[in-house]
Amino acid sequence: MNKFKLTKENLKLDNDWFTDSITTWLRAIDSTNLRNKKKINCLEIGSWQGLSAFFILNELKNSNLICVDTWEGADEHKDGAMTSSNVLINVEDTFDTNLNSFKDRVTKYKGKSSSYYEKNLYVNKFDLIYIDGSHHADDVIIDALKCFEMLCDGGLLIFDDYLWKYYDKDIDNPAGAINKFLKIKKKQIKIVCFDYQLAIKKISLK
Ligand SMILES: C[S@@+](CC[C@H](N)C(=O)[O-])C[C@H]1O[C@@H](n2cnc3c(N)ncnc32)[C@H](O)[C@@H]1O
Repeated sequence: MNKFKLTKENLKLDNDWFTDSITTWLRAIDSTNLRNKKKINCLEIGSWQGLSAFFILNELKNSNLICVDTWEGADEHKDGAMTSSNVLINVEDTFDTNLNSFKDRVTKYKGKSSSYYEKNLYVNKFDLIYIDGSHHADDVIIDALKCFEMLCDGGLLIFDDYLWKYYDKDIDNPAGAINKFLKIKKKQIKIVCFDYQLAIKKISLK
């Protein structure tokens, strides 16, 4: 964590919604054989200025990462609750600058996650997926189910903001969707870390 704190000082960041979760990430990664793989395919839903993407690419040297984002912000950015309009206008340029040193390993998909699934559902399988896009439960449940379909057996799926409360109705917040997802897939998952973030491993049914 301290090493990463020094590294991230070189990035242009207006917000940091990630560093506090690094211990969870390291525990989750160490519960898999990801570090031994020659090629680690990763997907991120929601990249913002690129901090979590930078962490993944910096920590897993054999990884490639697809970053899916509208770069238009989520509800909490658009209403000014979590950031300013100045930051929002420049968010994609900031992402490009921050990820420049990893440009050979990162691929951008600009659009809603739902459109990414429509075009790519059966194209790739991923070893690691991070879900941190829209936090409305209606979107989170789709992200969870589609990403689970694209996850390799033994792969790691991490949700940010499991315990976050932003919408008035509890059911509209991430936990409303994530708890449903856990119920639907209970025979196929092992919970690896349960915290502000939730990390699960996919178990083969064979
Ligand atoms: C909390 S930020 C991501 C933070 C980033 N993972 C980090 O830790 O640095 C959420 C991002 O999701 C994006 N987003 C919101 N709704 C989306 C959707 N339906 N599809 C794709 N991206 C979306 C926003 O534009 C925003 O950049």
